[in-house]
Amino acid sequence: MTVRRSVVLGCGSYLPNRVLTNAELAGKVDTSDEWIVQRTGIHERRIAAPGETTGSMATQAARSALAHAHIDAQAIDLIVLATSTPDNTFPATAVAVQADLGITHGAAFDVQAVCSGFVYALATADALLKTGAFSRALVIGSETFSRLLDWTDRATCVLFGDGAGAVVLEAQELPGKREDRGVLTVRLRSDGRHKSKLYVDGGPSSTGTVGHLRMEGREVFRHAVAMITDVVDDAFKATGMTVADIDWFVPHQANKRIIDGSAHKLGIPPNKIVVTVDRHGNTSAASIPLALADAVADRRIKRGDLLLLEAMGGGFTWAAALLRW
Ligand code: ACO
Repeated sequence: MTVRRSVVLGCGSYLPNRVLTNAELAGKVDTSDEWIVQRTGIHERRIAAPGETTGSMATQAARSALAHAHIDAQAIDLIVLATSTPDNTFPATAVAVQADLGITHGAAFDVQAVCSGFVYALATADALLKTGAFSRALVIGSETFSRLLDWTDRATCVLFGDGAGAVVLEAQELPGKREDRGVLTVRLRSDGRHKSKLYVDGGPSSTGTVGHLRMEGREVFRHAVAMITDVVDDAFKATGMTVADIDWFVPHQANKRIIDGSAHKLGIPPNKIVVTVDRHGNTSAASIPLALADAVADRRIKRGDLLLLEAMGGGFTWAAALLRW
């Protein structure tokens, strides 16, 4: 019996040119390169230029993913874009990307699950492709967190960066074998009791302003590893895969200590972890597709590899996915 799977045809990314180093940040707030590197693993991050937006970066990443997949934008009938920093309160940034790509058919909408957004968007696109209603999807993570930061708060402004990443998925009928490519499972979780530990203190229906990011860093850190490893175990149980089957661990890039702590608890060796947080900082929903594009471009990730993706962020939300590239 065949199975309908969402198979990755290609991926791409976009990073703004402007590099903001720890040394430069140390000239603006009371911090140091040593403190930032030791606590987070971050050396530098990218910052969007004045004219650049979440939508414009998403379009660049989408174009790069389409080129990598060798398909025309007209072949896409679904765009799911994960972001917490949309261009406008509405319409969805995904429709701006749709228009930029010249697509006038199908559907485009945004998903908001903060740092877990890309995995939530992947789950949404995968489910819709499996219904048979859509054939090919662009799944995008794009963020301009630099515009949400309080640049006087040293505890948060050193952590985040801007960028975008995208993958192209296609629904395919496959033989139903263990080596079949595509998304094997996506597991999603949230617990709103933690909503005030990482949030933005503004919004259209509360203050009427955009607001700034606020975070109880220690509380986020305290929950992160346990939540991540729990949802990853769920993904293993759902598929019968084990940690020994994993070729690449592509985590959300929030903090090197959270990545290493999760990998250690799961038993994943350092040489199987894709790390970009040192160069990108935390780009929230964009971090996983940016990391995928990085490791595909330098040929670490190859067709047929089994990938474990995971993320945890504001809400709290957390999620994991297993996919064969
Ligand atoms: N430079 C220098 N000192 C700083 C800085 C800074 N940039 N930021 C905070 N400090 C100081 C604090 O003021 C505090 O000083 P005090 O002891 O005199 O009061 C001291 O450093 C320790 O502060 P903590 O917040 O306890 O530092 P901690 O060791 O927890 O590290 C960090 C902070 C890096 C934010 C950590 O809590 C963390 O990684 N949390 C996870 C949160 C995260 O990654 N969030 C990203 C978004 S969520 C997600 O994507 C999962």
